[in-house]
Amino acid sequence: MQDSTDQTTRASRAGGPSVKTVVVPAAGMGTRFLPATKTVPKELLPVVDTPGIELIAEEAAALGAQRLAVVVAPNKEEIMRHFGEFAELQRIMLARGKDEQAAKVGRANGLIEAVAVTQDQPLGLGHAVGCAEAALDEDEDVVAVMLPDDLVLPVGVMEKMVAVREQLGGSVLCAFNVTRDEVFNYGVFDVEEPVDGFDGFEVRRVRGMVEKPAVEDAPSTLVATGRYLLDRGVFDALRRIEPGKGGELQLTDAIELMISEGHPVHVVVHEGKRHDLGNPGGYIPANVDFGLRDAKYGPALYTAVKKIIADYEAEHPGLAGGASAQD
Ligand code: UTP
Repeated sequence: MQDSTDQTTRASRAGGPSVKTVVVPAAGMGTRFLPATKTVPKELLPVVDTPGIELIAEEAAALGAQRLAVVVAPNKEEIMRHFGEFAELQRIMLARGKDEQAAKVGRANGLIEAVAVTQDQPLGLGHAVGCAEAALDEDEDVVAVMLPDDLVLPVGVMEKMVAVREQLGGSVLCAFNVTRDEVFNYGVFDVEEPVDGFDGFEVRRVRGMVEKPAVEDAPSTLVATGRYLLDRGVFDALRRIEPGKGGELQLTDAIELMISEGHPVHVVVHEGKRHDLGNPGGYIPANVDFGLRDAKYGPALYTAVKKIIADYEAEHPGLAGGASAQD
């Protein structure tokens, strides 16, 4: 994590904090994590020891944002409690000499002001973003959205997206390159050739998007991630689109509508890592990755994971044999 001096420098270099509010939709049902999500919101499940939503709050604070508008369901209020003070718990940790734990207890509260926005029913990501309109000040012309179940690493892609919006206007999304046989899982961008003038990262104009295409129909291997920098006009577009499957309003349908009306939309192609915390298949590797890099748990985890894999390969000789046969 970077320090606040650094954050201020970054925000002012970009001509002031151009993103004041970050919208964090966290009102989904988390069905892929049942039964855990019967009582624990998916956004509070920890990566090592820190909930995904706190990692997103850190990212928003590093961007220079002042406010996190957290879209929550009526039965998910624990999410907002996580951003509360916990002075008594902090006091107990300090009294026991557990300074590091005390600092962890206070971190979420000190990062950024978190305000709750209620989405009464889980009517889709687009609907959730629409619920946050009143949380933005009148003078905010950009709607930054970060999904708390999507870690885009290293942190900093939103800064690039802000720079692109300053130069090209319109809305800016984040794309991630996957292999062709993975495209069927994602929203895939149809893009133009790279735009000149950006140093160190690729920017392309978006023609459209295709949801979960067959491999042969995919227009590219660039897929959507959970980072959006949208023109405020997205709220109007959200009011004009029709609900799709399950009565849900899709954010991508609103973006498609804006594109069809000539609104410029670009992607920044992210070079780095991404972890999808939204399902166990992505959440477990994220924990292994963060755990291995953790000073306290990393060394023992490395040994444990190697042993687990060795045991697994011994139990599945075909798998190990197959892998070595290719070597
Ligand atoms: P997901 O589709 O990953 O979340 O939405 P979900 O609907 O909770 O997951 P499953 O499919 O049932 O397992 C991405 C983000 O958008 C939020 C979710 O909380 C998640 O952070 N979301 C989704 C809302 O806030 N409201 C909605 O109606 C839907």
